[in-house]
Amino acid sequence: MSTRDLRSRRLSYDADTLVDNPAGEPFDLFDAWMSDATAGQDEGRPFEATSMTVSTVTQLADGTWQPQARVVLLKEYDEEGFVFYTNLESDKGRALAANPRVCLSFNWSELERQVRIDGVAHQVDRSQVNDYFSVRPRASQTGAWASHQSQPIGSREELEQAFSDAEERFAEQPVPVPPFWGGFRVVPQRIEFWQGRRSRLHDRIVFTRTDAGWDVTRLCP
Ligand SMILES: Cc1cc2nc3c(=O)[nH]c(=O)nc-3n(C[C@H](O)[C@H](O)[C@H](O)COP(=O)(O)O)c2cc1C
Repeated sequence: MSTRDLRSRRLSYDADTLVDNPAGEPFDLFDAWMSDATAGQDEGRPFEATSMTVSTVTQLADGTWQPQARVVLLKEYDEEGFVFYTNLESDKGRALAANPRVCLSFNWSELERQVRIDGVAHQVDRSQVNDYFSVRPRASQTGAWASHQSQPIGSREELEQAFSDAEERFAEQPVPVPPFWGGFRVVPQRIEFWQGRRSRLHDRIVFTRTDAGWDVTRLCP
């Protein structure tokens, strides 16, 4: 394939601004930005308001460290942290068990905004996992049993057979929560808000957790 030249593709950003010292805690600003993103989604625009990239760092067999990133959906958040659900035996589940340091990033490109959250992941307790699993659509509950997430599988047919087997196994009863399925709460240490501005002079405001609360700093773009 010849080199694809994307160098002249560029947008100018001027949708909004960020003040030096936003009022309150970072959660207030995050909540305001999430509300803008979910409002866009509610209006039927093609927003992926709740999707975020989860980055982990895992040690390979040769001892070197490998970052790994994938998209998951944010399901809950409050001052305690940011919660997502997944298979605990997946690559990300194993990575977080060995090294709970994690980065979450949101790219709300329609709003010219990015949020990056550095923190530590803690497993969500089983009663909260049960609560969330119980409101998932039945097909998603069944799918959780059928998929050994991140493991190789021979074919699409094998996966669909595993789904049918799980449907049969739990026919006419509630689908229980698989023991290998759960959630992580990411407790933030640092939250960075990025707002695109003209001439690449973007606004970057970082909240860093201290014993007394949160420090606020502006960074060069
Ligand atoms: C929009 C979107 C939402 C996703 N949401 C989730 C999710 O909430 N939980 C999850 O485990 N995987 C989710 N995935 C799949 C993950 O990106 C990933 O493929 C899977 O979790 C396996 O990752 P791993 O092998 O690194 O553990 C989502 C993918 C996309 C594109």
